[in-house]
Amino acid sequence: MPQSHRVVLIPGDGIGPEIAAATLQVISLTGVSIEWVRRLAGVAAVDAVGNPIPDETLEAIRECRIALKGPLTTPVGGGFRSVNVAIRQEFDLYANLRPARNWEGIPGHWPDTDLVVVRENTEGLYSGVEHWVGRKKDAAEVIGVFTRPALERICRFAFEHARKNGRRRVTAVHKANILKLTNGMFLETARTIAAQYPDIAFDDRIIDNMCLQLVRDPRQFDVIVTTNLFGDILSDLTAGLTGGLGIAPSANIGATSAVFEAVHGSAPDIAGKGIANPTSLILSACLMLDHLGEEDAAAKIRAAVAATFAARDRLTADLETNHPATTAEFVEALASRLKQS
Ligand code: NAI
Ligand code: MG
Repeated sequence: MPQSHRVVLIPGDGIGPEIAAATLQVISLTGVSIEWVRRLAGVAAVDAVGNPIPDETLEAIRECRIALKGPLTTPVGGGFRSVNVAIRQEFDLYANLRPARNWEGIPGHWPDTDLVVVRENTEGLYSGVEHWVGRKKDAAEVIGVFTRPALERICRFAFEHARKNGRRRVTAVHKANILKLTNGMFLETARTIAAQYPDIAFDDRIIDNMCLQLVRDPRQFDVIVTTNLFGDILSDLTAGLTGGLGIAPSANIGATSAVFEAVHGSAPDIAGKGIANPTSLILSACLMLDHLGEEDAAAKIRAAVAATFAARDRLTADLETNHPATTAEFVEALASRLKQS
């Protein structure tokens, strides 16, 4: 009997339940055995139990250590604090992984691009320390917190990820020329860790130059490691260079737990219509399968996605305007290719 994994499934809001169902169908065809522990979060949880992040959801993640999460709707104004941020903090998911690659059949600016952004997910300018200066509220300050242990673990994560995935270069992205202490410490830390990985090449770029270089030719880069704010921005830039947010996967990884999620939101404008593109969540599930040691299953799914994109015969409306497929038709195309593999 193959080993069974227990994974928390948070279907999410809007298109979440539709793309989650599609993802489970695709995974089931790989033969990997997963026991899905279904839990609520977001608006679905507010409607059911009056709490966007119920204790039993956190408890399940604590127990299973792995979750696959659909997008959650964040009500504008008043509402509740971001559930995504709450989960990230609760489980200290310090590394945000955002691969970006070119797919044949999907318009991207750069064929052969295949890189991954590793973003520090817990501190920097997103530490939440922000306040008004003076009573008139015409000035405000934010404090960026950078600690050596957090910088060390994100740099080590990047090199370990490179080594495990056959990647050859790590580029640290920073603004150490201006932010000499905070970003200087990041660059110095990256250099120290790099010396422990002689098999992986290392270099660094200043953030503004990095944006220019990425747009000019992203093929120069392999693993990019950077701080929270720069990583947030760069990972959207790299998604934009390689087919957009609708197909971009992501993972939030900590020392004990990991949460895998689509990059896009709950798409309320198309929810319930059966036309959403499930690829972002499916490719996030591939990162999850890699994490679970089920690399063969992940590779099979990626090959089916690649073949379906390349054939361009059954793509959803975000990728194909002339004769768009429904979610079910796209999944059927993936399924028939998976059954052949
Ligand atoms: P969105 O990503 O949900 O939608 C932006 C546009 O992209 C819409 O036109 C939508 O139809 C389209 N789109 C998104 N995903 C798609 C898919 N899989 N297939 C086809 N088309 C797709 O961003 P928006 O509208 O700004 O946010 C909607 C809600 O989602 C908000 O409440 C926001 O807070 C939340 N959100 C949640 C995230 C998460 O849980 N990780 C991330 C981003 C937004
Ligand atoms: Mg972002």
